[in-house]
Amino acid sequence: MSNLVIINNKINKFNQSITVSGDKSISIRWVLLSSLANGVSKAKNLLMSEDVLAAIKAIKELGIKYKLKKNECKIYGKGFDGYKYKKNLLIDAKNSGTLGRLILGFLVNTSNPIKLIGDKSLSQRDFRRISVPLSKFGAKFKLNKNKGLPLTISGSQNLKPIRYYENLGSAQCKSSMIFAGMRTNGTTIIKAKKSRNHTELLCKYLNLPVKVKNNKNYDLIRVNKVKYIKKFNYNIPSDISSSAFFIGLTALSSNSELIIKDVNINSSRAGIIKILKKMGVKINFKKKRIYRGEKIANIKIKSPKIINSINCPTKFNSSAIDEFLIIFLVAAKAKGVSYFKDLKELNQKESPRLKWGVNILNKMGIKTVSTNDSIKIYGNPYLKINKKIIIKDYIKDHRVFMTSVIAALSFGGQWHIHDKDSIKTSFPNFLKIINKLIKND
Ligand code: S3P
Repeated sequence: MSNLVIINNKINKFNQSITVSGDKSISIRWVLLSSLANGVSKAKNLLMSEDVLAAIKAIKELGIKYKLKKNECKIYGKGFDGYKYKKNLLIDAKNSGTLGRLILGFLVNTSNPIKLIGDKSLSQRDFRRISVPLSKFGAKFKLNKNKGLPLTISGSQNLKPIRYYENLGSAQCKSSMIFAGMRTNGTTIIKAKKSRNHTELLCKYLNLPVKVKNNKNYDLIRVNKVKYIKKFNYNIPSDISSSAFFIGLTALSSNSELIIKDVNINSSRAGIIKILKKMGVKINFKKKRIYRGEKIANIKIKSPKIINSINCPTKFNSSAIDEFLIIFLVAAKAKGVSYFKDLKELNQKESPRLKWGVNILNKMGIKTVSTNDSIKIYGNPYLKINKKIIIKDYIKDHRVFMTSVIAALSFGGQWHIHDKDSIKTSFPNFLKIINKLIKND
């Protein structure tokens, strides 16, 4: 099948209810934590994407059994010391920064060196942010000369707790250090800039010795040695980061309405909702509830008559970090100039995403002024595209692909979007849902 998607028509108005697939962050955390639990844990609605399958393959390499049937999974945990560290172990994190970075936290006690590899995109990403603090626990690392993968971790049997200041706002760094802290005698103290808190919520639900004190701009986390993780079942909620593309599509369409069911609206993830509401998009939560500490709701979105520009407060950055490409697209249709700043971390993602945001908007004929951590977007409420736009060579960043599809359906033009396969990492049925909205049946 061709890997190229051609879109020549804008979408008509729609009024629909959809369900997107399971949350990627929670799916990967469930796989890792249940692999170290005592007994059989079950997940329903696990995200069936390459990133999560890579996590399952990784725990299999570590001697843990599993069964997978559609999107239901059983993991046969052998306890907190249940990993088998055989010789010449190779773990392939593929495209997943979350898998690659989180799993290293648990591997700090490996008795044999383990090699971690990834795909072209992951191999270009920074792993020193993980290897430097994990070295302080006592593990040793060999990184390739670009600070990244492939890397080799050698564990220690004499791990020490650390004090660590996480100042990037990275949940991957924070989580990796929490996991490593669980393997030491003594208390690891983490001062962390705000970022998604699924790891902390899971630890709380599992009664693990991880105590969190929330302050305004950062959290203080104290981690003590874990002896035992109870087996646990989890019904994974839908992913707000996958929902974001459809929230954006509805915001950019006319006279349309959409309900997205059972979405995790944890406030450390819901920045896109706050930002778009400020821009005048009508978004409501229905049937709010709490599950295992996570907030879940149905999200209802109505197309706005007019979109306002925004000078985006940086306090929303971390809770919208994976959604900025789609937010930039909404800003392209706003009345006035929007400004987003302090976004250096965006260029650390699966592709340099701030650059790709600029790239896509400029191809569409939208004026931008950007630096390495900010972007001004000169919105045009009347934008209609009448030319051919080609999107390729973006190191298969799934979010670049999906954002381009939303742009094509919202603004018109003849779009040739390459590397459709990229969606397999996070949202394999994205195009199926798009087709349902196009047919509006
Ligand atoms: C994630 C954390 C974020 C996010 C990524 C998933 C996680 O990365 O961009 O898609 O599940 O912990 P950083 O921790 O690098 O900000």
